[in-house]
Amino acid sequence: MKPGLSLMKHFLQFKDLRTEEYAYLFDRARIIKTRFKNYERYQPLADRTLAMIFEKASTRTRVSFEAGMYQMGGSVVHLTTGDSQLGRAEPVEDSARVISRMVDIVMIRTYEQAKLEAFAAHSRVPVINGLTNEYHPCQILADIFTYIEHRGPRGGEADVLQCLKGKVVAWVGDGNNMANTWLQAAEILGFKVHVSTPSGYGVDMAVAGIRDEQCFKVFNHPLQACEGADLVTTDVWTSMGYEAENEERRKAFIDWCVDDEMMAVARPDALFMHCLPAHRGEEVTAEVIDGPQSVVWDEAENRLHVQKALMEYLLLGRIG
Ligand code: CP
Ligand code: NVA
Repeated sequence: MKPGLSLMKHFLQFKDLRTEEYAYLFDRARIIKTRFKNYERYQPLADRTLAMIFEKASTRTRVSFEAGMYQMGGSVVHLTTGDSQLGRAEPVEDSARVISRMVDIVMIRTYEQAKLEAFAAHSRVPVINGLTNEYHPCQILADIFTYIEHRGPRGGEADVLQCLKGKVVAWVGDGNNMANTWLQAAEILGFKVHVSTPSGYGVDMAVAGIRDEQCFKVFNHPLQACEGADLVTTDVWTSMGYEAENEERRKAFIDWCVDDEMMAVARPDALFMHCLPAHRGEEVTAEVIDGPQSVVWDEAENRLHVQKALMEYLLLGRIG
């Protein structure tokens, strides 16, 4: 995509893409993954450069974006707050103007979504959300792709989203960036999220950025949220940036630990997911995360494949 073209797309929230674009991306990720597994060289992004800006820690996001870009023939610049002028109060708008003149695509992990949006508004190139306080769209892209791999059809783009229709995702834990993004995905892809959070940590529809209440239902008890669920998922009790609340959260979240009892009331073929990193004995028991219904390692690996499809799409548009 050449700078300045009106077709330029960012991926700042899950709702930035349409249903049919997700059908394409999931199918494309499947093709890209198969090629990768067969050691087939595929380098459509030769001579393209990705800038990755991290203002928070990361393992999966860093490795998947960096490895993915190299595998597609491109190169990567890695910046953190501590080793760039970002940490010395250079305005985000100025950083965006400069960085986006030198690279082809930018991935940012930061605190407020507003900062990411400000960067994107001044960028000449596509910007991807690598996690903010409010959203984590790349993770949900990987999670849904993982669900489709395990429970979906083997067919192509035409029916790839069918397996999601009417399904129930149980969200157990904090009404955080992951929960918000699940709600956006549910609205776009036609499934429902059963949310159970401790009092005071619920999802806020305005922050989640959803139109209405159709796509989710709130339950006081996590066991109720898991009843009949097709997928049970959770996340850390304390997200990055909220460490000062750690002690009060440890008390508030004590009953929001996904365990065998919760998995037992879900559907017999229910999957368990966690974006990782996980804390066994806090938000999930070791029996569940290391048990037969858990697909967390596929989920983590799939960050690589879906983000390669995403970068290819944002830079080159539809292939074929
Ligand atoms: N799930 C996820 O985004 O992991 P990292 O924080 O390690 O990138
Ligand atoms: N909700 C977590 C996700 C980490 C990948 C956080 O924001 O820290």
